[in-house]
Amino acid sequence: MSGLKAVILVGGLGTRLRPLTNDMPKSVLPLLNRPFMEYTFAYLRQFGIEDIILTLNYLPDVIRSYLGDGSQYDVRLIYCHEQEPMGTAGAIKNAERYLDGTFVALNGDIFTDLNLKEMLELHCSKKAKTTLSLQWVDDPSAFGVVETNDNKRVLRFIEKPPRAEATTNWINAGIYILEPEVLKYVPENTHYMVERGLFPALLDAGEPVYGYQFRGYWLDMGTPGSYFKLNRDLLLKEAVSPLSHPGGENSVYYEVGGTVDSSTRFTGPVLIGSRCNTGKGVSVNGPVVIGDDCSIEENAVISNAVILDNVRVGAGAGLEHCIIGSNVDIEKNRRVNNIVVTTSATAPLPGAASE
Ligand code: GTP
Repeated sequence: MSGLKAVILVGGLGTRLRPLTNDMPKSVLPLLNRPFMEYTFAYLRQFGIEDIILTLNYLPDVIRSYLGDGSQYDVRLIYCHEQEPMGTAGAIKNAERYLDGTFVALNGDIFTDLNLKEMLELHCSKKAKTTLSLQWVDDPSAFGVVETNDNKRVLRFIEKPPRAEATTNWINAGIYILEPEVLKYVPENTHYMVERGLFPALLDAGEPVYGYQFRGYWLDMGTPGSYFKLNRDLLLKEAVSPLSHPGGENSVYYEVGGTVDSSTRFTGPVLIGSRCNTGKGVSVNGPVVIGDDCSIEENAVISNAVILDNVRVGAGAGLEHCIIGSNVDIEKNRRVNNIVVTTSATAPLPGAASE
């Protein structure tokens, strides 16, 4: 697949992930202490894709400052900046000048092990103009449902059908293979979406649109619950990335530069970033991810949590099933359960503590 380019849609506001996305776009939110995009780049690279176009709108400078020209991730990045959000199809259209052959487009919030090579083979064998990845879900009511025939040709798109009315459980998984000529169906300088605009237009015009069905790991990390789950799944190695990282059921791993008191009790899996200190009598009960430059003061107890960079957890505080954003200061003896805490706001974190 070398020579193929990818367009990644990273311009959305990430409203479902607020307040974590108030000042950090979801594409660079840390996942096991590395920007989420690094995993997507590694995923694409394993299929030989190294030329990547990132379509930006929300907080573009933050994304650029994290990812640079891509060389530290062994990819070549081109940025396409929209002054106004163009929608998912409009954003791809805006990158048209860089697209000279079959290309991959993907939502910037998907983590998956989908076999892109097999998907491309289907696309080529069917002489498709567009191939969509389709994922099986138990409840399709929150998704765009895609009906296909026995020959895998797409017949119909239904946005968020009530559960009882859904005619299939195959949903649009947010990864597409496209021929550049389909972009003629996207109006210039107009907010236009793939699922409500481009794809129905292709069907209306009789263009060959196919669906590639798979049942592997697939997660839209765009909510606090799914972002939390993805950290957990990767740490437990229940989700697999080509990017090598610490983890595994009982693993305890901390980077250099900090002081971990010898009385700190760890139950894996635990991953702790650089320059972190723990005080006397601290307990860390995995799965727990702690970012760089954090300080966990004496007798604090942290269970089942994702803590970003530069967080102080005061003495005797108890954290369970929570996400703590960067630069937060948790006062001593405070109890923090089932919640996302940032410096500006909090939000509930759905799901049981034992998840
Ligand atoms: P919510 O606000 O929480 O719905 O998130 P979102 O809009 O960031 O994500 P959504 O799942 O709705 O969109 C799918 C992908 O398309 C995400 O990776 C978004 O970043 C991206 N996206 C959505 N709208 C635009 C847009 O107008 N321009 C660009 N460049 N990307 C977009």
